[in-house]
Amino acid sequence: MTLPRIVIERCHYLAECTEEPGAITRPFASDAMRRAQALVTDWMAEAGMTVMRDNIGNLRGRYAGAGEATLLLGSHLDSVRDAGKYDGPLGVIVAIAAVQRLRDAHRRLPFAIEVLAFADEEGLRYGSTYLGSRAVAGPFEWRDLERVDSAGITMSDAIRTFGGDPDRIREDRWQGGDLLGYCEVHIEQGPVLEARGLPVGVVSAIAGQGRFEVEFTGVAGHAGTVPMDRRRDALIGAAEFVLAVEAAATTQEGLVATVGKLETHPGVSNVIPARAMMSLDIRHADDRIRTEVSVRLASRAQDIARRRKLSIEIRTVAQNPAIVCAPRLVSLLTQAVEECQVQPIQLTSGAGHDAVVMSSLSDVGMLFVRCKGGVSHNPAESVTTEDVAVALDVLSRFLELLAEQ
Ligand code: GLV
Ligand code: MN
Ligand code: MN
Repeated sequence: MTLPRIVIERCHYLAECTEEPGAITRPFASDAMRRAQALVTDWMAEAGMTVMRDNIGNLRGRYAGAGEATLLLGSHLDSVRDAGKYDGPLGVIVAIAAVQRLRDAHRRLPFAIEVLAFADEEGLRYGSTYLGSRAVAGPFEWRDLERVDSAGITMSDAIRTFGGDPDRIREDRWQGGDLLGYCEVHIEQGPVLEARGLPVGVVSAIAGQGRFEVEFTGVAGHAGTVPMDRRRDALIGAAEFVLAVEAAATTQEGLVATVGKLETHPGVSNVIPARAMMSLDIRHADDRIRTEVSVRLASRAQDIARRRKLSIEIRTVAQNPAIVCAPRLVSLLTQAVEECQVQPIQLTSGAGHDAVVMSSLSDVGMLFVRCKGGVSHNPAESVTTEDVAVALDVLSRFLELLAEQ
């Protein structure tokens, strides 16, 4: 079987590591993640890497080089709920395949390659994003360790159960000496490459994002007896706010905003909701605009709450600034694309990636792979073997170019 075909097949094997039968849901520090890591450990070892797992739960495979410096490759192994097969795993598996090629050719580069399979990028279990890469590149938010999941398990306990030591996460910080950069292969998760008829594209920048929890509190009451004008219905306030979020996003060029989670309490059909909790995700390539809109929306939420006699609490879960990919790596990736006989294009990423956090540690570069319909965070995610073959060739060529420098 060809290597690109093996990459696709491995993504399919990983898709079977899930907490929900019939869907792909692989949260941080879960049994599904443990099974996925067992597979990835074998694949890394087969490619000639020494493998270890750090305290937060990232898997790290190292392929020694002739010199001391290290190039980092990788992506994440966790997923959203009811995910596709490729968001995250593809980058890890293509990186392993590129190393496998070197190993099969008995090649050592002038630098070591370390493949990082991050334990959590999506934030599904604890709501906080980039746990894996933040442990490596910092800053790690120590307060996150006290977060609880929906079953009441603290992040500290989840880490311990998974085999890590939350008190030693500091040791996960990169300590391996000089870095040449971090390069991540990822599905595009958008429609540009498909529209342009191109298999891959080089990322120039990644949009910033803010994540918040918004909670309206009113008063529970009887659905049959409390007149409409006497109600303090938390969900009605939340509903009005959701529409305000949509309006803010549609009137600000380049801004996207999403309420992806909404929970009510007590959540019973004949009780007026006393509490409505929602997530809010706001993104823009320009941090100033994103911050302005976030502030405006917070004040809008206050107005709605005041008018409806509700109380409101807004908690910031994460703020990740926009980042620019390193011109040196962008240019090498672009050259590698050209040398693989593909027209090079550069594009910005609206999705967040581990590269955002890794940029505080080293130069970062990213290669996007076309995905069908631009669809992701959806079981319909799909890539072709041919496009994966191009991505693998580009990554291999990129390694050679870096070695020639
Ligand atoms: C990560 O997938 C994101 O939400 O951008
Ligand atoms: Mn994702
Ligand atoms: Mn991803």
